Amino acid sequence: MTKPLEGVKIIDFTHVQAGPACTQLLAWFGADVIKVERPGSGDVTRNQLRDIPDADALYFTMLNSNKKSLTLDTKKPEGKEVLEKLIRESDVLVENFGPGALDRMGFSWERLNELNPKMIVASVKGFSDGHHYDDLKVYENVAQCAGGAASTTGFWDGPPTISAAALGDSNTGMHLAIGILTALLGRDKTGKGQKVAVSMQDSVLNLCRVKLRDQQRLERVGYLEEYPQYPHGEFSDVVPRGGNAGGGGQPGWVLKCKGWETDPNAYIYFTIQGHAWEPICKALGKPEWINDPAYKTAEARQPHIFEIFGTIEAWLSDKTKFEAVDILRKFDIPCAPVLTMKELANDPSLRASGTIVEVPHKKRGSYLTVGSPIKFSDMKPEVTASPLLGEHTDEVLAGLGYSKQDIFNLREIKAV
Ligand code: COA
Repeated sequence: MTKPLEGVKIIDFTHVQAGPACTQLLAWFGADVIKVERPGSGDVTRNQLRDIPDADALYFTMLNSNKKSLTLDTKKPEGKEVLEKLIRESDVLVENFGPGALDRMGFSWERLNELNPKMIVASVKGFSDGHHYDDLKVYENVAQCAGGAASTTGFWDGPPTISAAALGDSNTGMHLAIGILTALLGRDKTGKGQKVAVSMQDSVLNLCRVKLRDQQRLERVGYLEEYPQYPHGEFSDVVPRGGNAGGGGQPGWVLKCKGWETDPNAYIYFTIQGHAWEPICKALGKPEWINDPAYKTAEARQPHIFEIFGTIEAWLSDKTKFEAVDILRKFDIPCAPVLTMKELANDPSLRASGTIVEVPHKKRGSYLTVGSPIKFSDMKPEVTASPLLGEHTDEVLAGLGYSKQDIFNLREIKAV
């Protein structure tokens, strides 16, 4: 089956998570992604949090599937020459080095554009160009703090909290992938490449836009009625942390199920969707609440919402999280069990859909990874193993016209 991005050649100059997540996605969809890595060491994640001595760490394998690996010292003149050749015949270069690193290497946007005016140059940085922090190096948690996620996540009586979801890293990579695909479509019309830049701060903030909504509401009316602080607590002039409250017009909370005393994940998320109040009362065996003025509307319920959650928890006390969801789904109530990584790894539905995949690897044996979360009717993205360091160096160099002797010489001077 021909994949939509087949024929698109990408120089993957990325490392750690934000950039690799982007190029991995493009590789799944058929792009020829050549990961350029420093000879001898490669992407730092190959060695980080290793679980098997001398084999690439899962951190690396789970972000670099379907790619080729070319080792190249791009600070040596001979390495630069190879990179220039590659640039001349590639469609996209993706990088997420620290600020200014690419310029210092001699590959500014102007130079890249001169070498290949059709090439799209895509970058991830911590902050956008011209921002007063644009000289900062940034990792995941720094971005979550800078983008508004940390100040609005967690409980009101605790410190700002980091989410386990990679809002700064993989999320930024996904934004960059959208930018690259847009620029490729644009190039079809104009024949020209362009620079695509995404900052981690902006990408986090984009996902926190409802909190910016709340800031403006708070400034206008002084309170936020869907937050646990309303109506009994106090509001300051900034959006507070709302614990597990539902973010929109549907109040919700994480509720205890049978076994919560010993199992830290024996919980469900329960949502009180306004128009589903009647089925909720029926499911809970509380038909008297349906027309009771103290319960009938969302407004009437909010002052005693935690008492309502308490009643639901009493109902849940003899049901496991899975039993509870099986009952509630029949009443069309939006809810889910709080699933652990172990449960997700073994979930037959996720295995069947290709969201959790087992990938054979030359050195590790097989490992689990998250496959494409995007499903297509005409294509099933196939996940293949991440490359060993420099696995495709000879192949890529031969494709650029280097002879066996040339490659030997480049190896002798450690340029590849
Ligand atoms: N050959 C020779 N040199 C290479 C090379 C290669 N193949 N690949 C990288 N390098 C060099 C770069 O030129 C740079 O050298 P310089 O600083 O002397 O100019 C150096 O290696 C790497 O720089 P940098 O990217 O700053 O690495 P770091 O480990 O100090 O910082 C980050 C890591 C992630 C903090 C930083 O890259 C960053 O802020 N990136 C942008 C934001 C981002 O993506 N962060 C999230 C990552 S998940």
